[in-house]
Amino acid sequence: MSNETEKENAAAAALDYVEDGMTIGLGTGSTAKYFVEFLAEEVADRLVVRGVPTSEETRKLAASLNIPLVDVDQVERIHLTVDGADEVDPQAQLIKGGGAALLREKIIANASDLMIVIADSGKQVENLGKFPLPVEVTPFAYTITAKKVYDALVEAGVKKPLISVRTANDQRPIVTDGGNYILDCKCGLIPDAPLAASLLAGVPGVVDHGLFTTLCRIAIFGTDTGATILEY
Ligand code: 5RP
Repeated sequence: MSNETEKENAAAAALDYVEDGMTIGLGTGSTAKYFVEFLAEEVADRLVVRGVPTSEETRKLAASLNIPLVDVDQVERIHLTVDGADEVDPQAQLIKGGGAALLREKIIANASDLMIVIADSGKQVENLGKFPLPVEVTPFAYTITAKKVYDALVEAGVKKPLISVRTANDQRPIVTDGGNYILDCKCGLIPDAPLAASLLAGVPGVVDHGLFTTLCRIAIFGTDTGATILEY
């Protein structure tokens, strides 16, 4: 069974939620890319939708495939957002941000009537935390912020988090679409995601974090032949 087939099948299943006239948040990452490609085929076949990309990467992809795009500040309503995730737990809590787009992803998911997560089966976990939690921070004083992020995670019950700034091949910190850095926080286990989310949100210098604890309503996990749809 291939991950790519699962991603593709999850993305295809999400198309069932798309209706003519919708404004759609377009997620970021390899699974969301399949969705954007499928959506583009529907648009070529006369579906009328507008896309709100969650990253510059997705903006370029969607534009290259002729999906009409709308500026996020010109949008009155986003009917649906379809995005990937790095981990999904049984309460539909997510870790996102593997693609460094968590800030725009969260703003757009939060502004949407419905967020659907599409993922391969490997993203389905019992507990969050195996995937390093991305935390977006200002470049200014990021080492100080990293220490405070450590303290917040420990207060939230994480044992000995290991925190590193995400770097590119040239060893420099990668810079997000918002001009920030990403701290990758190896937690192992996040025992109380809402508590961790609220403590992290209170750290000056933290722009946002990859815990999405309340936004996902539907998760679609691809299988080798189709998809499993979970509604929460
Ligand atoms: C980007 C994300 C992605 O949705 C997440 O990393 C999943 O990516 P992929 O579908 O490539 O596994 O949060 O910031």
